[in-house]
Amino acid sequence: GEEPAPLLPVQELAASRHGAGDDGGVPSRYVARRAHDGSEGTPTAAVPVIDLGRLCQPAGGGESADEAAKLRAALQSWGLFLVVNHGIEVSLMDAVTEASREFFRQPLVEKQRYTNMVGGNFQLEGYGNDRVATEEQVLDWSDRHYLKVEPQDERNLALWPPCLRDVLHEFTTKCTTLKDCLIPEMAKLLELDGNYFSNQFSGKAETYARFNYYPPCPRPELVFGLKPHTDASFITLVMVDNNIGGLQVLRDGEWYNVPNKPDTLLVNLGDQMEIMSNGIFKSPVHRVVPDAEKERLSVVMFYSLDPEREIQPAGKLIDENHPALYKKVKIKEYIAGLFEYFAQGKLVIETAK
Ligand code: SIN
Ligand code: FE2
Repeated sequence: GEEPAPLLPVQELAASRHGAGDDGGVPSRYVARRAHDGSEGTPTAAVPVIDLGRLCQPAGGGESADEAAKLRAALQSWGLFLVVNHGIEVSLMDAVTEASREFFRQPLVEKQRYTNMVGGNFQLEGYGNDRVATEEQVLDWSDRHYLKVEPQDERNLALWPPCLRDVLHEFTTKCTTLKDCLIPEMAKLLELDGNYFSNQFSGKAETYARFNYYPPCPRPELVFGLKPHTDASFITLVMVDNNIGGLQVLRDGEWYNVPNKPDTLLVNLGDQMEIMSNGIFKSPVHRVVPDAEKERLSVVMFYSLDPEREIQPAGKLIDENHPALYKKVKIKEYIAGLFEYFAQGKLVIETAK
């Protein structure tokens, strides 16, 4: 069909609207739901706070066994948890958030230098909206900047704003160390070889950083900052500015607020882990609701396997009583499917079953 017209960033839209009428000035393309499906009365998810220092103790003493038990319960139920004692200095976390804030505060013309619309075509990397496939697509109340950060030699530095460069490099290094500490513990919880998941990261495994900016929304109950989805990654790390709420997770058909705590990071399992664990570990359906008054920023690190790799449930988890619940999938095809399905408001994990 026709190429949809370019969109105004939500940040500009929010700044130029003056809440009038029933919809508070929210344009219909952003209206994803009716009122009263709002967040009043939304319960809070009982996600644990895991002490990474304890969990990853080399000797694996009693303390690490306690953390491991908490972690197992979280991975089998919520598919997400908070980490403390994670080895990333608060000063670095703050510097990354401030650099992101500085980026989004710039005038539009400056941000457009990093646009993800090149010659009328959507590119995954860059500043703007997620892909808009049709005029009917419900749009999310957020802008984002998206960058490939690993492999390091595949960085497209022309898209890295100067204010983000050094801090993003340092933050990536620290996040990758954190991920490398966590993943063997997850393999052990499944009674797999400690290196089972780490080995999957051989070859050209990819890491992406996503800087999200959710402007205040006059009618947050009508929109999504990000519509419901699962992450197609193996594992995702999320850092939320100033611990503003808004992230919600679905469990047994009910939405819960994901709690946050200062200086923690949120770890969220992705579909690649759900598939390889044969569904024992969950890749949670989650969404973001913007705040009525405050801007919300988040920085999200997606860890994904080599796009050429094929994955399937671990052989050790399969027997006659535990059949494979997911098909073999090729990472790059799966991720392409995510973007297509996300635009349509559907869940790509259904395609792997
Ligand atoms: C997401 O990655 O799904 C959103 C995370 C967030 O902004 O809290
Ligand atoms: Fe997500």
